[in-house]
Amino acid sequence: MTPQAEKIRVLITDDIAETRENLRKLLSFDPGIEVVGVAASGQEGINLAKEFKPHVILMDINMPDMDGITATEEIMKAVPTAQVVMLSVQGETDYLRRAMLAGARDFLTKPPSGDELMSTIRRVYEMGKTRTVAMPVQPSAQADVSAEGPGKSGIGDAIVVFSPKGGVGCTTIAVNLAVALKQILGDSKKVSVMDASVQFGDVGVMLNLQARHSMADLAPHIHDMDVEMLRSVLASHSSGVKVLLAPPHPEEAEALLVGASGDEDLGGGGSMNVLLDVMRGEFDVVVVDTWSWIDDVVLTLLDAARLIILVVMPNIPSIKSARLFLEVADRLNYPLDRIALVINGVDRRMGIRVEQIEQAMLQSVAQIPLDEPAVQSAANHGLPFVIRDRNRPISQAMIQLAEYVRDTLAESSEEETGL
Ligand SMILES: Nc1ncnc2c1ncn2[C@@H]1O[C@H](COP(=O)(O)OP(=O)(O)OP(=O)(O)O)[C@@H](O)[C@H]1O
Ligand SMILES: [Mg+2]
Repeated sequence: MTPQAEKIRVLITDDIAETRENLRKLLSFDPGIEVVGVAASGQEGINLAKEFKPHVILMDINMPDMDGITATEEIMKAVPTAQVVMLSVQGETDYLRRAMLAGARDFLTKPPSGDELMSTIRRVYEMGKTRTVAMPVQPSAQADVSAEGPGKSGIGDAIVVFSPKGGVGCTTIAVNLAVALKQILGDSKKVSVMDASVQFGDVGVMLNLQARHSMADLAPHIHDMDVEMLRSVLASHSSGVKVLLAPPHPEEAEALLVGASGDEDLGGGGSMNVLLDVMRGEFDVVVVDTWSWIDDVVLTLLDAARLIILVVMPNIPSIKSARLFLEVADRLNYPLDRIALVINGVDRRMGIRVEQIEQAMLQSVAQIPLDEPAVQSAANHGLPFVIRDRNRPISQAMIQLAEYVRDTLAESSEEETGL
């Protein structure tokens, strides 16, 4: 830490005076940490958290008036930017699980050593402020993933379908691409769709899935996610593709968008990180549908993407936005080979030729014809056109895109293993 860096503001909450004093003394040795308050009860901890908005709260799990878990729940509602570290004595592991579900970020066994204490405080502080840092998936989840997950590493690839302009066919492409991939990869690979168009996701409608569960059900468990929880909310499509649906009501998206990353200002990229991580643990391929807005959620997903399918339609507003996105991608240091340009809605009469679009941007990997009857009736029947009408040019183009994706993923896994 440089001398100018902000100090990490810490609040101590413990009912035992001696413990409070010991923690305060330990922390006073670290010039990068400032103890902004010391609370003797759960209720006082909540009050001081609201008043001082600390970065990190050390919270005793077992207190007489209000236990640390209840206090943490209250604090997460009032001060979602705070990172709670739970302190407990040996043997309180059952409590700990509940504490993590309540929103605690980490825990320490009493009495913690000075080193443990400082490094935990620093780690959770960084977790709260850094957008791209993946939140920890609980060890139980990781064990589960490696035991049952596919592939060599057990970590699948994210294919993120994105356009900076809305209404250009991202959802249509995401859904058909996933189904086409499943068709060509067969039973050996697990393929899924994650509808990260969190507020107005329509993957469920396009696939005619009347599911009872969605990612909204996972919001309260974001700190304690495991594969079993994920499986319990996935919807199954007859093609064999599994789907993590967006919340059915826009207001339910809120819980996924604020607070989960521990910082309201970050827009909730943290939750999406966790969901994508656990999806990648379970599936070989996760096709992610997004909304057309570069916010923190989308950036988190783009960061993690093996391939970004950039969708553009042959019209000037769409091309202009896609070009701007390429500039952003350059600033973000995304290598160009991670971006696959797909031109959607290609029609002889469109006035702009494919070559002109490619000259303005980059070589496309697929061109999907304009075919309103096929797209509309597929959407109305909830059956992707790659299934409904496999021989139609639009379906063939989508299958070609799926083959490109398959080959790209195979190449990168060869590179990994060939080293
Ligand atoms: N190749 C195509 N031919 C004809 N119509 C298409 C084609 N692709 C998409 N459409 C139509 O364009 C509209 C937008 O498609 P879609 O919902 O897939 O786009 P989107 O980028 O996901 O939109 P949103 O920004 O609303 O999420 C839909 O009405 C769809 O039927
Ligand atoms: Mg869409």
